[in-house]
Amino acid sequence: MSTPPLASGPGGPDALRPLLATVLDALAAGRRERGGPLPAGGPDAVAARVADALGDVLPDTGDPDALRALVHLLAAGAADPADPLCAAHLHGPPLAVAAAADLAASAVNPSLDSWDQAPAASALEAAVARTLARTAGLADALVTTGGTESNQLALLLAREAHGGTVRLVCGTNAHHSLPRAAWLLGLPDPVLVPTPHGTLDPAALDAALTALPGPLLVAATAGTTDAGLIDPLPEIAGLCTAHGARLHIDAAYGGGLLFSDRHRDKLAGLEAAHTLTIDLHKLGWQPVAAGLLALARPHERATLHHRADYLNADDDTEAGLPDLLGRSLRTTRRPDILKIAVTLKTLGRRGLGALTDQVCARAREFAALVAEHPGFELYDRPVISTVLFRPAGADDHTVAAVRRRLLHDGRAVLGRARADGRLWLKATVLNPHTRPDDLAQLLELAELAEGNTPA
Ligand SMILES: Cc1ncc(COP(=O)(O)O)c(C=O)c1O
Repeated sequence: MSTPPLASGPGGPDALRPLLATVLDALAAGRRERGGPLPAGGPDAVAARVADALGDVLPDTGDPDALRALVHLLAAGAADPADPLCAAHLHGPPLAVAAAADLAASAVNPSLDSWDQAPAASALEAAVARTLARTAGLADALVTTGGTESNQLALLLAREAHGGTVRLVCGTNAHHSLPRAAWLLGLPDPVLVPTPHGTLDPAALDAALTALPGPLLVAATAGTTDAGLIDPLPEIAGLCTAHGARLHIDAAYGGGLLFSDRHRDKLAGLEAAHTLTIDLHKLGWQPVAAGLLALARPHERATLHHRADYLNADDDTEAGLPDLLGRSLRTTRRPDILKIAVTLKTLGRRGLGALTDQVCARAREFAALVAEHPGFELYDRPVISTVLFRPAGADDHTVAAVRRRLLHDGRAVLGRARADGRLWLKATVLNPHTRPDDLAQLLELAELAEGNTPA
C-alpha cells in the first residue's frame, strides 16, 4: 500500500478534494436514511447498527471505503441540531462557514502550545479573544473547550487571587460544573443559595454573604441551563462590591445576546464580572469546541504561567517568541479561534445579532403557541430561547415518558428540566432556520406522544 496522502503540504488540497466530496455525499445519504431529527429505535437499535456497519475496528488490511461508510453511519445515527425538531439542549447547529474554517484548522493543524507550532494562529487567537472580551466590557480572554473548562479556570484564578482558597457561593440554578470545579480544586464545600423563581434571590445572597467568612467567590448565571433565565446581575454585582466578594458570571448560554441590539440590555451588569464564561458553541453557531473565559484583570493570567523548556525557554521568550503555555492548562491545543474569527468577520456583529434575534423570536412564538393550547401548560415566557412546557394535568412520570417516546420514535428531541418542583419538557431554540410551522409540528408531536403514552 502506498503512503496515504497528507491533509496539508503541496498535495493536501488535491488529496482532500475527492475525500470532501465523499464526506458530503455520505452526510447527505446518512441524513436521508435517518429521515428525522434522530435515529429511530432507541439505544439498542442504534448500537446494533453501529456494530454491524463497523465490523472489525482494526482489520489487518485497511478498507478504502471506511470514510464513506463511517461518515454515513454517523450522519444516519445523529441527533441533528440542524433539524428544527431537534431542540433539547444547548447544542446548536454550526454555521457552514464555521465548519469549513474548522476543516482548515484540521488540515493545517496548528498547535497553540508554542509559537513555533502556531505563528499566525497564536496572533489570531490573541487578537480575537481580546476583541470578544472587550465586547463584553472585560479586558482579555482565554480560549477554552467550553463552559466547563471556563468555569474551572474561573475558580482556579479566584483561588489563586485569594492566596490559595476561596469559597464558592452560587445559586441552586448554577451549572453543575461550578460545584464540581470546587471539588476538583480542593475548595471548601460551595454554599448554594436558593433560587425559588429560577434566579438568584439578591436578599438570600445578601444574607449568605453577610453570614459567611471570606474570601468568597459569587457565581451568577446569565442563561441558566434549565430555563434560560438571567440572574439579576446589577444587584448581584452591587452586593459583591459591598461584601468584598469576587464575581464570576457564567454566560455560557446568554453571552450570545451581546451581539444583539435588541437583547444586549438583558446582560447589563456583565462588565462587573472579574471573570466571565462565554460559549460560542451554544448561542454562537460554532462547531464544538468554542469556549472563552474573559478576564477583567489580564495580569491574573500570570497564575497559569508555567515553564517547559522545549516550549517556552526563558531565552526564547526574552528573544521575543510569544509564550503561549500560560494561556491554557492544556498543552496541545486546536486553533478553535479560526472558525470563531471567520464567523465574526463573515457575519459581522449585525449578522450574528440577527441570528440571535431570530431564535429568541421563534422561542417567544413557541411559548405563545403553548400558552394558547388548552392541552399544554407553559412555565413562562422565554428570556432567551428556552421554553418549558408540559401536558396540562400530567404527572411527572407522563412528562418523562412523552420525551422518551419522541426520542425512541426518532420524531423529536426535547429536553427535560425541573422547575417549581415539577418536571417540564424543554425546547431550546437555537436553529435560526426554524419556521413557525416547525414549532406547530413540535407541539403536535408532543400531543400525539402523550396520547400514545400509557397512563
Ligand atoms: C450555564 C452553563 N454553563 C456551563 C455549561 C457547560 O458548558 P460545556 O458543556 O461547553 O462545557 C453549560 C452547558 O450547558 C451551561 O448551560
